[in-house]
Amino acid sequence: MQSRGHRVANKIALVTGASAGLGRAIAMRLAEEGATLVMADIEANGLAETERMIRDAGGTATSVVADVTEEAPVKALFAGALAAHGRIDILVNDVGGGSSGRIWEAKAEDWDFIIRLNLRSAFLCTREAAAHMRERRSGRIINLSSGSREGTPWTAYYMGNSAYSAAKAGIHGFTRGVALELAEYGVTVNAVAPGPIETEKTGPGFRQIEHLEYGPIRATPLRRIGVPADIANAVLYLASDEANYVTGTTLAVAGGR
Ligand SMILES: NC(=O)c1ccc[n+]([C@@H]2O[C@H](COP(=O)([O-])OP(=O)(O)OC[C@H]3O[C@@H](n4cnc5c(N)ncnc54)[C@H](O)[C@@H]3O)[C@@H](O)[C@H]2O)c1
Repeated sequence: MQSRGHRVANKIALVTGASAGLGRAIAMRLAEEGATLVMADIEANGLAETERMIRDAGGTATSVVADVTEEAPVKALFAGALAAHGRIDILVNDVGGGSSGRIWEAKAEDWDFIIRLNLRSAFLCTREAAAHMRERRSGRIINLSSGSREGTPWTAYYMGNSAYSAAKAGIHGFTRGVALELAEYGVTVNAVAPGPIETEKTGPGFRQIEHLEYGPIRATPLRRIGVPADIANAVLYLASDEANYVTGTTLAVAGGR
């Protein structure tokens, strides 16, 4: 973080899944633009590393190791953030992922895990944030959907991952529903739907399937894999005052696909 901006100055932002990948990039971008971060993840080492990176760059962050698919840790996470800061202005529900494979051999336990990881986590965190933001009549909630909400060609065609597609389509519906519920309280609720974004975890996989007819670059009109900053900038926009009149939308950041 060389230059610091002010697009979310003095906001308290809670980001889940901040120990790696897009969650880390989102947390760092919000901190760079002046937000104070409360970060949660199930993975302690990466979380401590993100916290260190933000502090080294002059930002402010604390972190909590928590499984956000479980009710009690989520309640404790929000209670702790409110006790420390008195308010939460921005919630980013980044936790998600999972792979269920071909539908004809998919396991029921993988289905349950993926729905739980992507949807239950967003539900539990949003419920806590909504109760508080509704009272304050102010707040921003941003969920992570995916291009997979409509079936991602390379994944669907070659590997199968219908549970993930169902969960990310569910995020779109959840986003719309909660946006309508919270509109009269001045709280906006939106989603970002990334296309293929290179992270430490996803990069090697994308390169392996690049030669295929429906490979990620071939199937993406802008002809490149995205970078975490593409997603972090979209989340920043939705979290900032620039998006005051935007709610209930799923913003595709997917290179035109
Ligand atoms: N990277 C992409 O290409 C891409 C594309 C579309 C959508 N997305 C979505 O964006 C989000 C972030 O993706 P990513 O690629 O950075 O994923 P990632 O797997 O690198 O990061 C997910 C983070 O969530 C944490 N986590 C997992 N289970 C948890 C739990 N129960 N409680 C708390 N934390 C938990 C992990 O430790 C990890 O830090 C996900 O919702 C994903 O589905 C990513």
